[in-house]
Amino acid sequence: MQPASAFARIEPADRQAVDEAAAILRAGGIVAFPTETVYGLGADATSAMAVARIYAAKGRPSFNPLIAHVSDIAQARREGKFNHAAEQLAAAFWPGPLTLVVPVAATGTVCELARAGLESIALRMPAHPVARALIAAAGCPLAAPSANRSGHVSPTTARHVADDLDGSVDLILNGGDCPVGLESTIIACLDDTPRLLRPGGIARRDLEAVLGHPLPTGVPVETDSTPIAPGLLASHYAPKARVRLAAHSLAAGEAGLDFGGQLSAPADAFRLDLSERGDIVEAAANLFGYLRRLDATGAATIAVAPIPSGGLGEAINDRLARAAASR
Ligand code: TXA
Ligand code: MG
Repeated sequence: MQPASAFARIEPADRQAVDEAAAILRAGGIVAFPTETVYGLGADATSAMAVARIYAAKGRPSFNPLIAHVSDIAQARREGKFNHAAEQLAAAFWPGPLTLVVPVAATGTVCELARAGLESIALRMPAHPVARALIAAAGCPLAAPSANRSGHVSPTTARHVADDLDGSVDLILNGGDCPVGLESTIIACLDDTPRLLRPGGIARRDLEAVLGHPLPTGVPVETDSTPIAPGLLASHYAPKARVRLAAHSLAAGEAGLDFGGQLSAPADAFRLDLSERGDIVEAAANLFGYLRRLDATGAATIAVAPIPSGGLGEAINDRLARAAASR
């Protein structure tokens, strides 16, 4: 990671800067950009390595699922399954400050790390012209949480972003003040009853007018300042296998999740290494996919090597502790 003294580059969001930002995103970089709600910290949502850099820059101790930003409805439908309520809400409020949480589509391209292992996906089509132009130029959905350090308030100017995130961001597109200044409203459309998960830029009464009925409140979403209990995110992926932490060697019948080649294992044992070179960002990128692959072997237990606690190690260890406790 860059030293904290490095300054982030801020560019006025003209055509040239947007094209440069899109090239950075396609190459796996992270770019802060204006939306009508707050500034987002964007990465190619299909690349786990790029998404891992977002979590590293935000300094968040756990993997919060991220909103995938799309530039048109076709892209949204490729990523998520829209029921009747979701279609109604998208037709009425997109582009705009509304996020819809829907089941992941079979054609979805957003990586598991961006979804924090959930089978649902949060989708938003922003109205801000810079955000729209950037997503279209990048040619992929952009995973983007608010562009603040974890626990800080959401940024509504490019200066706020620069003050919070220093040189960990490749580029900040300056599009002036965010007109709404408040995060998007989040609604879950996962079953027959749409539920309000986070109040935001679109008022409840406007949503209820479109739906034609009152909008119940669902389990509130985790935010930077209020992490919710792991059990509340009921649909979080939990391995079927038992998870044994801080392992140094594999017992018979165990599958191994290694880090930096620490696990001693029988020659025929199935073992995946999160990062052979001991890179914690690479390890975060591989975590969810590797857990699933190990679980799919049918092993009764997944033995996990010790993972260092620095940087993204905190979030990785948090996720592994939840997996170990989930049975
Ligand atoms: O206005 C906004 O929504 C801004 C701009 C940048 O678009 N983004 C934003 O992202 O506020 P973030 O990461 O700060 O908040 C996203 C919220 C989190 O509370 C997260 O837990 C929730 O969305 N979320 C994402 N995916 C979810 C899912 N599949 N199920 C439930 N909640 C989800
Ligand atoms: Mg936030």
